[in-house]
Amino acid sequence: MRKRILQVTGLDKSFGGLHATRNLNFELFEGDLNAIIGPNGAGKSTFFNLLTGYHRPDSGTVLFDGVDITNRPPHQITRIGISRAFQVSNIFPKMTVFENVRSAVQAQMGMAFNVFGNAAKIGNDRTAHLLSLCGLGEKSPNIAGALSQGDKKKLELTLALAGNPKLLLLDEPTAGMSLKETRETMGLVDRLNEKHNITILFTEHDLSVVFNHARNITLLHHGEIIIQGAPDQVRSNETAQNIYFGEHY
Ligand SMILES: Nc1ncnc2c1ncn2[C@@H]1O[C@H](COP(=O)(O)OP(=O)(O)O)[C@@H](O)[C@H]1O
Ligand SMILES: [Mg+2]
Repeated sequence: MRKRILQVTGLDKSFGGLHATRNLNFELFEGDLNAIIGPNGAGKSTFFNLLTGYHRPDSGTVLFDGVDITNRPPHQITRIGISRAFQVSNIFPKMTVFENVRSAVQAQMGMAFNVFGNAAKIGNDRTAHLLSLCGLGEKSPNIAGALSQGDKKKLELTLALAGNPKLLLLDEPTAGMSLKETRETMGLVDRLNEKHNITILFTEHDLSVVFNHARNITLLHHGEIIIQGAPDQVRSNETAQNIYFGEHY
């Protein structure tokens, strides 16, 4: 039996009077590659913010790998094994691509970086490995702020991987990408899931991407789960058609 890696119970978050998430119950098992979809304002990014400690829930709990991480600060949650690639960029624009990833790798290595003499080499090797894995090897010396939108998204993904996550959260990973970049990025997402054993949850507006890559889909609307299931189940669901797919197909 596969291990449950994430268990969310009764998660509520309001901004003023507005329920961004309402009584969310949700789980992920090791090896999942699942998607959360829903109209703008459905609560997808808020849910990711709650999972990663950027927002505190009004009520509810988040268990990761059996550990209660509700209300833990972001850096602790990253250390425990959840990384997130941001919908809003957290790239240092004046540094090179290599330096950006190098500093994230260094942060992950923490104390070990200072203690061991060969840590600098290990850090450089790991940085180069991650950049090549994410298709940014040739862009290493480029200034991050001058990258194309698609390459910036790739860099965000690389930064998220520097934390060595067990669970990777991707908020609209292909937003602003060309068709070619979208294919490359989703190919990488598939490989990270299958070959590197990373459990992945992503949000995405491009429904062809969702239906081609997610094994299980959750539809959020006004902060609540409307339906959850395999792509075919969700696609043919009448409520899903009415509130979301109607405007896309
Ligand atoms: N920091 C915030 N302050 C106030 N309202 C917010 C904040 N973050 C999100 N919201 C509101 O919560 C709702 C859900 O937003 P969000 O999670 O960003 O949706 P999605 O990512 O699905 O588009 C929206 O109505 C949004 O305006
Ligand atoms: Mg969002």
